[in-house]
Amino acid sequence: MSEIIVSTPVRNRFEELFHNHNLAKKTVALFDENTRELFGNEILDALNLQGFSVFELVVPARETSKSFRTAYRLYTQLIEADVDRSWNLLAVGGGVVGDLGGYIAASYYRGIPVIQLPTTLLAMTDSSIGGKVAINHPLGKNLIGFFHMPELVLIDPAYLKSLPQREVYAGMAEVVKYGFIADAGFLDYIDRHFQDIVAIKDPFISEAVRTSAAIKADVVEKDFREQSGLRATLNFGHTFAHGLEKLADYRHIRHGEAVALGMVCALHLSRRLETISDDDLERGLAILNKFRLSTRMVKKRFKDVLATALLESMHSDKKKVDKQLRFVLLEKLGKAYLHPEPIESNIVIAAIEDAKGRC
Ligand SMILES: NC(=O)c1ccc[n+]([C@@H]2O[C@H](COP(=O)([O-])OP(=O)(O)OC[C@H]3O[C@@H](n4cnc5c(N)ncnc54)[C@H](O)[C@@H]3O)[C@@H](O)[C@H]2O)c1
Ligand SMILES: [Zn+2]
Repeated sequence: MSEIIVSTPVRNRFEELFHNHNLAKKTVALFDENTRELFGNEILDALNLQGFSVFELVVPARETSKSFRTAYRLYTQLIEADVDRSWNLLAVGGGVVGDLGGYIAASYYRGIPVIQLPTTLLAMTDSSIGGKVAINHPLGKNLIGFFHMPELVLIDPAYLKSLPQREVYAGMAEVVKYGFIADAGFLDYIDRHFQDIVAIKDPFISEAVRTSAAIKADVVEKDFREQSGLRATLNFGHTFAHGLEKLADYRHIRHGEAVALGMVCALHLSRRLETISDDDLERGLAILNKFRLSTRMVKKRFKDVLATALLESMHSDKKKVDKQLRFVLLEKLGKAYLHPEPIESNIVIAAIEDAKGRC
């Protein structure tokens, strides 16, 4: 499993950390336009000062950079710069840069090491960990990719200070998710310190990031290729979320916003199947209520969605197995499981209606 370092300022430790992991001091530094502008100079200066050879790549800051066209352009730049398999790649950015950088690293010269330096809350707690890397195909997101474990994940929570609030809340959905699926004590911690965490205050933000990253890494390690159902629990709230994102044509709604709403639905579904108590339902909803979610528009759109339309959209998502939807439910706060049987449509619809009534 990759080592995860949480440290501020992590850039001062490149030489030491790369050395400990037998990584060459020859690094391709990949940024998007925003992370280049915000952190590029200080990271490149730190690499240069610590004696690295550096080759810099920059892509537009948008989801469409996770494309074959962009990857092809980057391969060309690397070949022209004589980058060979003795190099490694440092991906500095959110999930877009992390996924694209991981994809390039997994394929270039049959694979070079990748070091993730995530700069969004979602990337620090989710996308940089676990080795899933991919680009999109016009017919679907994340369809072309690899399992390519990062050699190192370098997390510096101070980078979150420039992150727009909406992105902070989007990442926070995954943080809360880890509490729900794996750690009731962590859920309590989030409940008590929610405002400090979203305000990026230490030690709260570092603690939240560290615990989330550790939970994700632990789940991935125990079920790397998604065989036992454990890794599937990371998809708590996501069956609903993917349906919502698809309905919105992946616009207007951030993934994390869809996940927060999806978790409200999943809590209600758990209650309807009587796997959790009323108390657990209310406690869970109280935490999710702290999301400003994030704009009123997102909530309003959710209320306007027909439950049947959402269910249909969920059915067309790629994560279905034999056309049956699979749901991750809670056994209690802090423990999730993959529900083994299909759930009748009318129960799912009722849970969506419950959720709409409570948003
Ligand atoms: N590989 C996985 O396991 C996995 C898991 C979840 C999501 N993902 C992928 O992650 C992507 C979404 O990632 P994301 O939410 O990080 O989005 P993102 O990478 O698009 O980043 C969001 C925005 O924030 C900007 N930004 C990044 N760091 C910043 C900072 N510190 N301050 C200010 N602005 C900053 C970016 O330039 C971008 O405009 C999707 O493509 C999704 O498919 C992958
Ligand atoms: Zn997610």
